[in-house]
Amino acid sequence: MKDIQIYKRDDLKQKPLQDHLEFGQIFTDHMFLLDYNLDQGWHDARIVPYGPIVLDPAAMVLHYGQAVFEGMKAFLAKDDQILLFRPNKNMERFNQSNNRLEIPEIDEDFILHAIQTLVNIEKEWIPSGKGTSLYIRPFIIATEPCLGVRAAHNYQLLVILSPVGAYYSEGLEPVKINVESSYARAVRGGLGTAKAAGNYAASIKAQTEAKEAGYSQVLWLDALERKYIEEVGSMNIFFKIDGKVITPELNGSILAGVTRDSIIELLQSWGIPVEERRISMEEVFEAYNNHTLEEVFGTGTAAVISPVGELFWNEKQVLINEGQIGKLSQQLYDTITGIQTGFIPDTLQWTVQV
Ligand code: COI
Repeated sequence: MKDIQIYKRDDLKQKPLQDHLEFGQIFTDHMFLLDYNLDQGWHDARIVPYGPIVLDPAAMVLHYGQAVFEGMKAFLAKDDQILLFRPNKNMERFNQSNNRLEIPEIDEDFILHAIQTLVNIEKEWIPSGKGTSLYIRPFIIATEPCLGVRAAHNYQLLVILSPVGAYYSEGLEPVKINVESSYARAVRGGLGTAKAAGNYAASIKAQTEAKEAGYSQVLWLDALERKYIEEVGSMNIFFKIDGKVITPELNGSILAGVTRDSIIELLQSWGIPVEERRISMEEVFEAYNNHTLEEVFGTGTAAVISPVGELFWNEKQVLINEGQIGKLSQQLYDTITGIQTGFIPDTLQWTVQV
């Protein structure tokens, strides 16, 4: 394994109070950096004081958006253990995103080792309050100065850390979501399955308009027919209809969420029928009219489980479970967070100790 040079700072920052941690506003004392060039490949692994980086104004990421990222969390768990949740899945997806954007492959074991080393150095930053964690954001940007459109020859991989509370200000209170019928997030064959920065740029206008109308998020429909449900952008989505749980299948434009995968496995292990298939908004609306739409919830690393209390679609309001958190959503939230923090036995061997 390559060495990681460690340059620590003496002037440590003040840690935030834990009771009102917002998502992704505060960053720890150090970060991890790794460079890539054609001669040396990935090289010069180092942990340095957190701070601005120098980029040439012609750096290709600034012009053509060759950038991918991941989202993970470290938990201060039972008996003061530090746990990561299925980090290998994130490393695997990191390389899938790299592949789609023509970014050179990373050594998954080495990057995981680097993340563990960084988290260990920053362990005092892991918050201990309920629902809090240290969010880990690994990302790669194209740094070569060049205005030609092609794969860059130079990259930088960075890992930054942020102590966080709930992703939505609503916490576990059900969120209101606008079903987007005009804009599209991703199309099959595009970047939708990659965790590419551009997917999030594509979502911002609809997100702003939804916020102005009083909704916290946007639910994306398929880009061709605006009919079938895809994902929320910051999370995957599940519907409980008449005792069955349905989530859109991974159709080539949806992100394969690690929490999504974990929820499917959990539901299967509990004997609850779960279907990965195409599901249209018409079907959801019909279930609502028939009183068989029991629960809707989103899943994601940042959001964990986020119950949905209302969907607004084509001028129609779909109220779910009277705007209350559903029994299954609560049970899934308690189980996932219980496993992540070591309070529920990890029989599926999902956690990794730092
Ligand atoms: C995550 O859940 O970690 C994400 O990356 C979603 C979002 C914060 C962009």
